[in-house]
Amino acid sequence: MFKGVTLSSSPVSSPAVVVFGVLQGQDIAEVLPRKLAYAADVIAASKRSEFAAGESGKIAEAFPTAEGSPERVIVLGLGKKEKVNGESLRSAFAALARRLAAIKASSAALHVSAALDAAGIKGDAGGRAAGEAFGLLSWNNLTFKGKGTDESRKERPSIVLDADKKALGKGIEFGLRLAESTNMCRSLSETPPNIATPKYIADLAKKLAKDHGLDFMVFEGKDLEKEKLTGHLNVGKASENKPCMIRLVYNPEKVSKKKSKPAVLVGKTMTYDTGGLSLKVNNGMVGMKRDKDGGCAVLGAMHAIATIIKPDRQVIAYLCAAENSLSDEAYRPDDVITYRNGVTVEVTNTDAEGRLVLADALAYTCEKDDPAYIVDLATLTGGVIVALGSTFAGLFCEDDALRARVEAAASTSGERVWRLPMHREYTDMMKSPIADILNSNPNRKAHAGQGAAFLASFVKEGTPWCHLDIAGVHVSESDGGMYAKGSTGWGVRLLADLLADA
Ligand code: BES
Ligand code: MN
Ligand code: ZN
Repeated sequence: MFKGVTLSSSPVSSPAVVVFGVLQGQDIAEVLPRKLAYAADVIAASKRSEFAAGESGKIAEAFPTAEGSPERVIVLGLGKKEKVNGESLRSAFAALARRLAAIKASSAALHVSAALDAAGIKGDAGGRAAGEAFGLLSWNNLTFKGKGTDESRKERPSIVLDADKKALGKGIEFGLRLAESTNMCRSLSETPPNIATPKYIADLAKKLAKDHGLDFMVFEGKDLEKEKLTGHLNVGKASENKPCMIRLVYNPEKVSKKKSKPAVLVGKTMTYDTGGLSLKVNNGMVGMKRDKDGGCAVLGAMHAIATIIKPDRQVIAYLCAAENSLSDEAYRPDDVITYRNGVTVEVTNTDAEGRLVLADALAYTCEKDDPAYIVDLATLTGGVIVALGSTFAGLFCEDDALRARVEAAASTSGERVWRLPMHREYTDMMKSPIADILNSNPNRKAHAGQGAAFLASFVKEGTPWCHLDIAGVHVSESDGGMYAKGSTGWGVRLLADLLADA
């Protein structure tokens, strides 16, 4: 929508649009400054029936004529007092942002603090929601539009925002920066597989590390053999775009004594998933460029962690990057592979490849890093889409404390998670007659749970671990709310919030 959104550091002298936020049922006079020259116009606009008197995301407009008035005034409905929360505010501000983009407003002064106060929402929380909405709506999917696209379609307005209170402005700034990290994730996610190869992603991670003071390491070629990163070696074998495991480390200036162990983030980064020899059929392959979105989210989160969150705990990230392709060198159903922790896996389906690469990172980090906790994100199964649609990510976590923290972060960021069960019966389903475990049971039961049960074999007993299956939530099918059609950057803000609480 926007080319750029910035927060003005000093009051904008004559903003193109002045916005007043109002709650449903609230007297609009309460939110208008005293002796406002054009108060009558605003009140009249807010009484028009289509505005529904403050319903969340509804907009009423006035074009006052009094001397010194702005050209346009927008009254933004923020909904019922008791129902105002981060999610409702993000969607109300998204509606506002869409309107401001449509009218190409160059600046807007936001007077929403009075309504937020009345709803008991802190200015910085309200501002964050606005910043996220405007920031996420400034992402676009035009990178690959070429000479064949009308230049005018690529034109987008820039907007300057002005906040009526300091706390609101602080929140907006924070939200905008969270959105920037999220947008970085989305752009990488949308990058096609002929460009975004494992090497391309490693180079990007390296640049991120250099720009923001992270340690960077990549396991590729012989390193993968030396470190017995068998999943990467096998899944990535058939492609000329060779696999790699990327490791990034954020080192805080000062580590809190109580937080001496690192937090570990792991992301499935399948740059393309054809299914391998267990080839995907019909249209099942389309969109599999986004099978790297777990890794993209982890990368975006590391950006946020290094630039804005700066927790007092070390954070280690692993991106398990490979292309699941097919050739005469492809790994096959019936292969048996041995992991660095000694676990043997009978491959029954080369399309259950995500868990095979994630297993490398889980085993490696448990052995080398002594993690305080591990969170992995993966577009792991179609099964989770059947179960939860695009409404929730599937959450598997048997550690009560970690689960509570992930759920709290999810509720702050508005990226919804729903707990799914882990059970001995799922573990039993993964037993192999010839090796230790299968990568997929040929029956069609509980695919998402099978994935989690498989991964559990690579997490050291006692290490708190949370697996998020994001196959249903990483992409939006339509343009609406804060999101354009395409990648949502799901997880970046959740992980940032998780680490903000270290
Ligand atoms: N990347 C897919 C899962 C997926 C499906 C993500 C649809 C996004 C949209 C994953 O690698 C996969 O192929 N999973 C299989 C597992 C099965 C073979 C056990 C699935 O879910 O069908
Ligand atoms: Mn697959
Ligand atoms: Zn996959």
